[in-house]
Amino acid sequence: MMTHRIVSDQPKGELCVAFVFASDQVSVPSAFDTKQKNALKLAIEAEGFEAKKGRTVTAYAASDAHKRVMLVGLGNQDKLTLRQLKQEVGKVIIGAQGKEVQELTIMLPAFLEDVAMDHLMQEVVIATEVAAYSYDELKDKDAQVSPIKRISYLIVGDEKLAKKGMNRGKKIAAAVNMTRHLGNVPPSDMTPERLGHEAIAIGKEHDALKVTVFDKKKITALGMGCLLGVSKGSQLEPKFIVMEYLQGDKNVAPTVLVGKGITFDSGGLSIKPGNYMMDMKFDMLGAATVIGTMKAIASLGLNINVIGLVPTCENMPSGSSYRPDDILVAMNGKSVLIENTDAEGRLILADALSYAHKYKPAQVIDFATLTGACMVALGEERTGLFSPVDALAEDLVEAAESVGEQVWRLPVGEEYTEAMMCDVADIKNLGGVGRPGFGGASTAAAFLEFFTKDKDGEPGYDWAHMDLSCSHYGGKGKGYIRGGANGFGVETMVAYLSE
Ligand code: BES
Ligand code: ZN
Ligand code: ZN
Repeated sequence: MMTHRIVSDQPKGELCVAFVFASDQVSVPSAFDTKQKNALKLAIEAEGFEAKKGRTVTAYAASDAHKRVMLVGLGNQDKLTLRQLKQEVGKVIIGAQGKEVQELTIMLPAFLEDVAMDHLMQEVVIATEVAAYSYDELKDKDAQVSPIKRISYLIVGDEKLAKKGMNRGKKIAAAVNMTRHLGNVPPSDMTPERLGHEAIAIGKEHDALKVTVFDKKKITALGMGCLLGVSKGSQLEPKFIVMEYLQGDKNVAPTVLVGKGITFDSGGLSIKPGNYMMDMKFDMLGAATVIGTMKAIASLGLNINVIGLVPTCENMPSGSSYRPDDILVAMNGKSVLIENTDAEGRLILADALSYAHKYKPAQVIDFATLTGACMVALGEERTGLFSPVDALAEDLVEAAESVGEQVWRLPVGEEYTEAMMCDVADIKNLGGVGRPGFGGASTAAAFLEFFTKDKDGEPGYDWAHMDLSCSHYGGKGKGYIRGGANGFGVETMVAYLSE
C-alpha cells in the first residue's frame, strides 16, 4: 500500500493533479503558485481545454514544486456522480503508473455537495488504491506495474474530517484489494484449504474476529450433503469457513454473510465447453467478498455482530464425481435432484443457508457468481440483487449507491419457485420458466430461498442474494481498474453495515 497524507501546502513532487469542473472559463485552482498558473493558462489556451469529463491538460516545468501539473476535467458539477469521480481519480493513478511517477499531489476542491468531506476522502483513497493494484507478482520484475509510493492531498475543507475519511479509506481499500487478490491467484493455488488459511490469517490479525475452518469430517457430521456431493469429483477436500465478529450489543441478532467458494468450476460431469471454463477461478469471488468484508469491519472496529460463512470446494469431473440423476440431501434434510452438475453454486449455498439458521440472524445476505443468466441480463458492471424483503433490498441499493457500486434488483416470485419443484425429490437444481433455462438468475434465487425457510416453510430470516455477475472484468479491465477480480461488494457491505 502507498502512503497517503493530507498536506496544507504544496509539497515538492513529480506530478500535481487538480480536478476541475467545466464552466465558461476554466478556473485554475488557487492553490497553484504563479508560475504554475501561468503555465497552465497557456496550455489551456493552446489546447482549447474545456474541462469536459475525462479530458486532461498538462503543463511542464511549471514550478519548483512540481515538474508537471495536470488538470483533469470533470464536466458539469451538478451531473457528476461519486462513481464517475472515482473513475477519473483511478484513471489518473493508472496513467501516472504508466509514466513511472512515484509521488504525486492531488488537489481536491470541495466536490459534490451532498457528499461529506470524510466520505469524499474515504472514497478518493479507495479509488487510488484500487486503481494502483495489479496482479503481476508472477511476471518478470521489469514487466510489473511501477509502484506509486506516496500521494499527498491538498484539500479545501475540514482537515480533521478528511483525515478520518482517509484512514477509513485505507482500511477498506486493503480489504477490497485482498478480495481481488484471492480471486486472481490461480485455481491450483487458491484451493479450499488455502482459502481457509487466508481466513485464519485475517483472524490472527484481529482479536475480535474468531475464525474456524471445518474439515470434511465435520462437514459430514453436520450433514452438509450438498457441499459434500459437489466436492466428490475433486482430489481436494471441501472446507467450511466460519468467521465470527461479535462486537455489537449482545441482544442484537447478527447479520450473516454467505459466500460461494467454488475455487474452480469446470462444470463437473456436465462439463463446460473450453471457452466457458476460462475465468472459472473467479467462482470463489462470493467467498472472497465475504472474507474481505470481515477483514474490513474488523480493521475498522465496527460495533456490530456479523458472521461470515463460506462453503468452499472444487467442481471437477472424475470417476468419483456426483452425477446428474443423483439426489443429494442438504443439512436441513431437504432432498435435491441433480439435473446438471454445473449448477453447483446453489448446492453448496443450500448447506450454508441451512447452517445460518443456528445464529437466529436478523438477516442473511449471500454473494455468489451464480448464473451466466445474470451476466446476460445485466452485463459485467452491475450486480443482480434478489430479495423478498423490500426494505432490505432498498437499503442494499442505497448502500451500493453511496460508494459508487451498482446493483440492480431482479425478481423473486412464485413462478420461479414453481419451476424448481420436482417429482422424485423436494426440489431440483435446474429450472426454467416457460422454457428450460428461461429466468435462470431468478430460478437460481428461488432455489436458494427454499433453504432460508424454517421447518414450517416460513421465512427463517430476512434474506437477500447478490448474483456477482460483475465480480471480475474480462480482458484488460477499464481505464480506472485493471482486469481480473474487481472486489465488488466489500465497499457496499461496509457501507451497509456501518449504517
Ligand atoms: N459459476 C457459474 C456461473 C457463472 C458463469 C458465473 C459465468 C460467472 C460467469 C455457475 O456455477 C454455472 O455454471 N451456472 C450455470 C447454471 C446452469 C447450469 C443452470 C450457468 O449459468 O450456465
Ligand atoms: Zn457451475
Ligand atoms: Zn459456479
